[in-house]
Amino acid sequence: MDRAEIVRLDKRRVWHPYTAMDAWASVDPIVVARAEGPFLWDENGARFIDGNSSWWTSALGHRHPRVVAAINRQLETLDHCALGGIAHEQSARLAEELIAVAPAGMSRVFYTDNGSTAIEAAVKMSIQLFAQNGKPRKSRFVALDGAFHGDSIGAASLGGVEIFRRPFASVLFECVHAPFPDDYQAAFDAMKELITRKHDTIAAVVVEPIVQGAAGMRIYDARYLTELVAVARAHDVLVIFDEVFAGYGRTGPMWACDHAGVSPDLMCIGKVFAGGALPMAAVLATERVFDAFRGDASRAFYYGHTFCGHPLGAAIAREVLAIFKDEQILSQVARKERLIKQAFERIAQIPGVARVRSIGMIGAADLGSAGYEGGLGWRVYEEAKKRGAYLRPLGDTVYVCPPLVTEDSVLIELLQILEDSIRAVT
Ligand SMILES: Cc1ncc(COP(=O)(O)O)c(C=O)c1O
Repeated sequence: MDRAEIVRLDKRRVWHPYTAMDAWASVDPIVVARAEGPFLWDENGARFIDGNSSWWTSALGHRHPRVVAAINRQLETLDHCALGGIAHEQSARLAEELIAVAPAGMSRVFYTDNGSTAIEAAVKMSIQLFAQNGKPRKSRFVALDGAFHGDSIGAASLGGVEIFRRPFASVLFECVHAPFPDDYQAAFDAMKELITRKHDTIAAVVVEPIVQGAAGMRIYDARYLTELVAVARAHDVLVIFDEVFAGYGRTGPMWACDHAGVSPDLMCIGKVFAGGALPMAAVLATERVFDAFRGDASRAFYYGHTFCGHPLGAAIAREVLAIFKDEQILSQVARKERLIKQAFERIAQIPGVARVRSIGMIGAADLGSAGYEGGLGWRVYEEAKKRGAYLRPLGDTVYVCPPLVTEDSVLIELLQILEDSIRAVT
């Protein structure tokens, strides 16, 4: 099918996520035909560097040969089967291998099928844990201003980005949003006060450790996490770390919470988990959480998803962990982090750039103050597209978040395209 025909069919039938569809009608989109490593190729042969790892998933690049081989191998024997009342090798071995690299104290794996459902599961586990263990009033949640934890109703209730909440405000459950730790001490003091005063009604605190992704790549001090965990534990408030975006080396270490050397009670992972090739996610839990569901059937966690723990995804997820180890992916990040940092220090000098920041394989710059609804980032997106990079912005925030395996020369090219595109716009 030729490019024009694909676009015609798309515009006739496809309802795109996060998209004003009237405006989409006049967009000439990138029509991706093929992807490999850090590159996307358009139907007309144009090459684009995948500047955001396809929504933060393809940390190992697209179609990593070992991931492709793992899918093919698994397809030879078992494509999918339910996890209800059935065990299978891939999900069993994956759980064991995952716990081996998880933060200290994690001991159980509950599979779901995307980041939002991992968050839903963690929320429901927290509520049920207290409900059936003598503290039914502990059913409220605390999250951070600007948080993004997904789009299902539960996950959106925790979210703090106004545009994602607005239409659903009437049905979202109550969640207290604590100040984002721009100033870590002041924010922690506010959080401490909140937990101390309301702990008898709070089930859990949910945070994206170290960096809030969708809020605009906002980075905060690891000390906030250390102190948060201590005060939550002291008041029997569960800590849920959402590592859906920041996990798997994106910020440097395997898990963003490793910056602080702390572990949560529940940890949600997704995106890179199944190599960016299939939707797959999980909640990791401590033994204490798991124990709270022991007993007769009325105490079980009645929750699940059709594709949870599916063998194809699990086979890929195991291969991803093996590749991280064999190819020493995390040590590659440490080296490339410097290139990103230096580029953003240069970008900070461009008139019109308000603020820059970087950590691990993330670099971001604010071009205006309109936040997620700003249009400047989209102008940079268009400029970058002309120059061969896919750089979807977060409103007025432009950022890079490329595959961790991006070669230095390609990374330098990507950073140069971003810099040139910003200059063209500002
Ligand atoms: C931190 C975080 N949590 C949860 C989610 C939701 O994941 P999914 O889109 O797979 O439902 C996202 C998605 O971007 C995310 O960034």
